[in-house]
Amino acid sequence: MHVHRFEKLWFGASLVLIVAFVGTIVYGAIGPGVAMVGDDGGTIEAAAVSDGNFEQTENFREPGVYESTDGDGVDVYIVARQYLFNPGTAEPIEVPRGEEVTFHVTSADVTHGFNLAATNVNTMVIPGQVAKFDVTFEETGEYGIVCHEYCGSGHHTMAGQLHVVP
Ligand code: CUA
Repeated sequence: MHVHRFEKLWFGASLVLIVAFVGTIVYGAIGPGVAMVGDDGGTIEAAAVSDGNFEQTENFREPGVYESTDGDGVDVYIVARQYLFNPGTAEPIEVPRGEEVTFHVTSADVTHGFNLAATNVNTMVIPGQVAKFDVTFEETGEYGIVCHEYCGSGHHTMAGQLHVVP
């Protein structure tokens, strides 16, 4: 049987694609993997956060800004809930310029988003998970915090402020 040259070519090309697709999935599943929210922030009892019972949450302090336990930079603990960030909405979060800021963000109710406008600081905030990540702000400035996951009727009003101060 004769197979046309172009047919062979396309057959080969589609095989390459299939192998690439499968390879991508295998890489994600058993390879180095892809970092996801909460991989190192750990889990948290969402009900305790909702009750404001932070003594029960080993890896999460009361919301606010703290000197880092390793003496370098600050730790910021933020609770998202319908439809505010605590802190952030009622009062701006203040963090120092040029120091490592470790964010710990969790939700007291449903899935929210945490995005610092005009930066690549962007995470999902999932009840039961702590999103933990480090950011060093090189310049002072004011950033809007926006929730970018639909979380209910007040989603579009859910916002806050972060100020980087000298
Ligand atoms: Cu919270 Cu949208």
